[in-house]
Amino acid sequence: MTYLGVDYYPEHWPEEMMGEDLQGIKDMGANIIRIGEFAWHLMEKEEGAFDFSYFDHVIEKAKQHGLDVMFGTPTATFPAWLAQKHPSILSENENGNKRVFGGRRQYCFNSDKYRQYAAGITKQLVQHYKDEEAIVSWQIDNEFGHEGSDMCYCDQCYAAFHQYLENKYDSVGQLNDEWGTIFWGQTYNDFSEIPIPKPTVTTHNPTLKLEWARFRSSSVNGFTHEMTAIVNEHKGSHQTVTTNVSGGFFDKWFDHEENVKPMDFVSYDNYPVWGGLEKPIPPEAIAMTHDFNRGLLDQNYWIVEELMGAQGHDVIGYLPRPNQAKMWSYQAFAHGCSNMLYFRWRGMTKGAEQFCYGVVDHDNVYGRKYKEVQSLFNEIKEHEELLNAEINSDVAVLYDYDNIWSWRSQIQSKDFDFNAELLRLYRPFYRKNTNIDVIPATRDLSTYKVVLVPVMQLMDDTLASRLRTFADEGGTVIFSYRAGLKGRDNNIRLGEVLPGPVRELIGARVEEIESLTAAHQLELQGEGSFAEVPAHISVWRDLLVPEQAETLYSYQDQFYKGYAAVTKNSFGKGSVYYVGGGLSEEALEKIAADVTNDCGIDTIESERDVEVYRRHIGGDSYLFLMNHSDKEKSYGMEKLGPFESRIVKG
Ligand code: GAL
Repeated sequence: MTYLGVDYYPEHWPEEMMGEDLQGIKDMGANIIRIGEFAWHLMEKEEGAFDFSYFDHVIEKAKQHGLDVMFGTPTATFPAWLAQKHPSILSENENGNKRVFGGRRQYCFNSDKYRQYAAGITKQLVQHYKDEEAIVSWQIDNEFGHEGSDMCYCDQCYAAFHQYLENKYDSVGQLNDEWGTIFWGQTYNDFSEIPIPKPTVTTHNPTLKLEWARFRSSSVNGFTHEMTAIVNEHKGSHQTVTTNVSGGFFDKWFDHEENVKPMDFVSYDNYPVWGGLEKPIPPEAIAMTHDFNRGLLDQNYWIVEELMGAQGHDVIGYLPRPNQAKMWSYQAFAHGCSNMLYFRWRGMTKGAEQFCYGVVDHDNVYGRKYKEVQSLFNEIKEHEELLNAEINSDVAVLYDYDNIWSWRSQIQSKDFDFNAELLRLYRPFYRKNTNIDVIPATRDLSTYKVVLVPVMQLMDDTLASRLRTFADEGGTVIFSYRAGLKGRDNNIRLGEVLPGPVRELIGARVEEIESLTAAHQLELQGEGSFAEVPAHISVWRDLLVPEQAETLYSYQDQFYKGYAAVTKNSFGKGSVYYVGGGLSEEALEKIAADVTNDCGIDTIESERDVEVYRRHIGGDSYLFLMNHSDKEKSYGMEKLGPFESRIVKG
């Protein structure tokens, strides 16, 4: 069964509206609602006074309307009485200010008190509903780490960080040695002397910052896993467990693969536009988020918050045009979403999300957006088997949270942005309409033909040797700049010529480097078939000297004319590209064209802004067609109106 539905907050509305709402939801073609994720106070008005009668009633009504339920454990927003009684549960910002009650997600992951109360409500709730057939799934909390909530500098975190370090290092001497605390005379006599990276004069030790990031990650994931274990212990066997991943996952302080390990499936909240944005993020950026979420458990996933109306807390932006949000849903289904709920049934008249527009607006008129969702639900129901079919990709993009955090604390170029650098390599393959997986760097590579390795400055020998084997056996690797700069400890290796452990693989050495701005674009000269493709580089440049590799592009500026900017090497049976900076789009598209051609990868030519995604059921092939533009477009004989989308056999 394909689940299609909405996020519904019956507690926001007069009781007498519930029947009509549920009927409206049902008439739209839905079969599920998600409820409860912010309603702790409704279930425990006073400490220990658990009362689920309100939701008993909601669930009874949902059943009468033939709707199943996903229930969110309510730990993202705790009751005011709890904050008043135990202020220690409140997280602190870097200046030592407690986040006051109000807003949401302002709890400290390392607060024992919070864990105790969160465990209490979670256990009572799940036990109460373990036999409820209508509840088919539990969502743990809501959007871990969102809105900066994964960071806290309180004393509990400080103490837990010391414990984390003591567990990890044999002695403080070993830590001093690995962190290089001899620098600026920061040598510690005891673990208790080590600071957390609150603001100081200039900057902290890079390894301290990386360890702090890892510690943050273990704090968030420790809490998540504790809550998940409670749900798993008490739930009914017919009930599944998930948690919803929010956007901006590369900007968070926790490893998402680790976070979702105990889940039955991943859920994602898909908001291609939010807040004050003038226009949505580009199609490839949306696509990449789907590929990331599918990659977390290497299986199809749910979307439990799909945007329909304009969104924002205090500032609102772009209104999705007619059929645009529907097209984003098709895009999500194309990339592996198998079940979808829209956020939210109706926009709320009061509270912080008055401007988060839903399927229905405050006027309660079932208008254009309602009909759009209804048509999507009706169309997509036909394709259940297709939505559940496995996706196999020839191309993978590798990421590693240690590497991301290492960059985050030392961006090196003022215009460096990890997300943008990942998309820089992803985009040209996306435009070839080939399926791409976005996966942690530790995954098996043997099923791929091409592996993209954006800005992997933290590279241990294990990854380097796995990439060597991959290329040796015929794979193509595309690195971008700074590859192999540092080891796992976030330190630069002594006496090693860059790109360090992958120098032989790349067949070129980096002699000097320069940080550029985005506006500082250096013209490059192409060689051979690249001679006709104009190119420039910005944000960063590595000055390369080929050893075995051939030069694809070289610099032309005074002093550095002749140094290579982009190289290609033959290694074993495979090929290795090195892109030594922020290379411009056209040149990367030429590389993607050569690579997909050489590797015999299935590509589909389409007009710009027409996305075509191929899926299979057995030997049959289906194409998801998405027009991301406000113009008429076509794909073969298929005409696509502005923002139109559909599935065709082909
Ligand atoms: C999500 C969140 C929802 C709601 C929504 C508004 O990030 O999970 O609770 O706040 O944004 O767009």
